[in-house]
Amino acid sequence: MKLKKGYSRIVLLIGNYAIKIAKPKYGRRCNIGELHYSQLFPNSELFNKHLYTMICPVLFSFFNCWVIVMPRCKEYTGGYETDAFNTLSDNIRRHRIPAELLMQNIGWWNNKLVCFDYYQ
Ligand SMILES: Nc1ncnc2c1ncn2[C@@H]1O[C@H](COP(=O)(O)OP(=O)(O)O)[C@@H](O)[C@H]1O
Ligand SMILES: [Mg+2]
Repeated sequence: MKLKKGYSRIVLLIGNYAIKIAKPKYGRRCNIGELHYSQLFPNSELFNKHLYTMICPVLFSFFNCWVIVMPRCKEYTGGYETDAFNTLSDNIRRHRIPAELLMQNIGWWNNKLVCFDYYQ
């Protein structure tokens, strides 16, 4: 088990899951936003083609979104110049996802580079 501290959440990495616990103030808003985007994508024609090729989905939420669970991504260390990063960055911009594409917010999931911190 690993413990990570983000700006607005504390994250427990256990097995294949990331458990994101909101800090007071902004954490819950981020959790709600990410749940919202995760739910929009599967039902949207526009987004269907890119379904989960850019965001790591929220699988479960608990306690009114004070806690959410996502699949755990593998660390990305490739930098900001790779094809994978450019593709992700283009998709995120095109679909207007409010994600900040920093190294600490992206990772590999199902062989795709995705963002797991996509609401501010
Ligand atoms: N799905 C995930 N898979 C792997 N690590 C994650 C995942 N979600 C979060 N983390 C880890 O937890 C840290 C904080 O999570 P993040 O979603 O960026 O929260 P914050 O909004 O507080 O910055 C990340 O920088 C990363 O190290
Ligand atoms: Mg972050």
